[in-house]
Amino acid sequence: MIPLMKYAFVNEYETRHALAEFILKAPKFSMDQQCYNFEKKFSKYQGSKEAVLFNSGGSANLAILQSLKNLGMLDVGDNIGFSALTWSTNVMPIIQLGFNPIPIDCSVNTLNVMSSNLLELIERVKIKCLFITNVLGFTGDLDKIREICLSRNIILLEDNCEALGTELFNGKAGNFSLASSFSFFVAHHMSTIEGGLVVTNNYEIAEMLRIVRANGWDRNLNAAQQLKWRKKFNVSNEFEAKYTFYDLGYNLRPTEITGFIGQFQMQFLEKNIDQRESNFLRLEQYVKENEDLIFLDHTHIKKFSSFALPVLCKNKKLRESYFNQFSGAGVEIRPMIAGNIQKQPFFKKYSKVEYNLPGADFIHDCGFYCGNYPELSENDIQVLRSCLSKY
Ligand SMILES: Cc1ncc(COP(=O)(O)O)c(C=O)c1O
Repeated sequence: MIPLMKYAFVNEYETRHALAEFILKAPKFSMDQQCYNFEKKFSKYQGSKEAVLFNSGGSANLAILQSLKNLGMLDVGDNIGFSALTWSTNVMPIIQLGFNPIPIDCSVNTLNVMSSNLLELIERVKIKCLFITNVLGFTGDLDKIREICLSRNIILLEDNCEALGTELFNGKAGNFSLASSFSFFVAHHMSTIEGGLVVTNNYEIAEMLRIVRANGWDRNLNAAQQLKWRKKFNVSNEFEAKYTFYDLGYNLRPTEITGFIGQFQMQFLEKNIDQRESNFLRLEQYVKENEDLIFLDHTHIKKFSSFALPVLCKNKKLRESYFNQFSGAGVEIRPMIAGNIQKQPFFKKYSKVEYNLPGADFIHDCGFYCGNYPELSENDIQVLRSCLSKY
């Protein structure tokens, strides 16, 4: 059996042991210094000015959009473009916050929205914001996409929950946009069991993210920021400030356990990503040799941080065959994330317009993925090799 993932953590035993010690000794479990230290460590790794930790990647996405709405950068009814091949909680907050979701087609060769897909869409529909997803460790040509967004005044956001560690030739995935989200749910590149994070270089957005994360209050802001909000709303004393709520928020806070595990797992991150990349590069050679399968293009990516092993067949019938080949060998498989999101019940309920998305349809009908992680053994690789060989 090759499950989607083998363990909750990289270096499982060592991490569980450290976590047990932490739990015995921790002075506090609600959000505090461990979370802030993890944020600092992560922003240094990512090369961003700010990092704000959340209890999940879905919460991070919700908080980004709520923050832009609170700041007046987005309004109810604005068109927000997003990758048609994505995860539910990339799109749901677009709907929940009253924006208009506009799916953008993805390229079959990269699984992602490319600049050509974006250009094709904006010829027909004006969008205020693009919340792009970097799918399964792959990305689109984000440098070109950023240029297009800059020249047309489109706010660019990245859902980087599946591409932690991927690097293009001119920057890390997650650093091409105004704000980007990460997920630390188990089976992602790095796990804190549940967890998510937003990086941004924009201090005003980071400040609002901290307000949105915790009830709409100012408790997790620095002294100067608190003073600014209290002055603006005539909050004259600490007693009143404790329960003053400045704008719309939620409780999306992580715990100290999230912060502790995140810091501990970061020491293994570089090696973890290297191993994922090297597994992937080996396995894709077997894809290349098989004419039933589509070889995915990542030539625009310098460091490929593989999330999983996508298998894209040339037609639907072939997918059935490879589906059986993988399942028969005991390999756990999943659909290509949420497929063409337009086919999902929630999307049909809330969006009445149907877009023509041939790329996302093809990926939906002809693809699936299985796990790729550092703990794959040589034997596992050989099993996957035989699954990838011609049916
Ligand atoms: C692209 C994408 N966005 C958002 C999420 C949500 O992350 P979480 O499960 O941490 O809420 C996921 C989860 O798999 C994802 O793949």
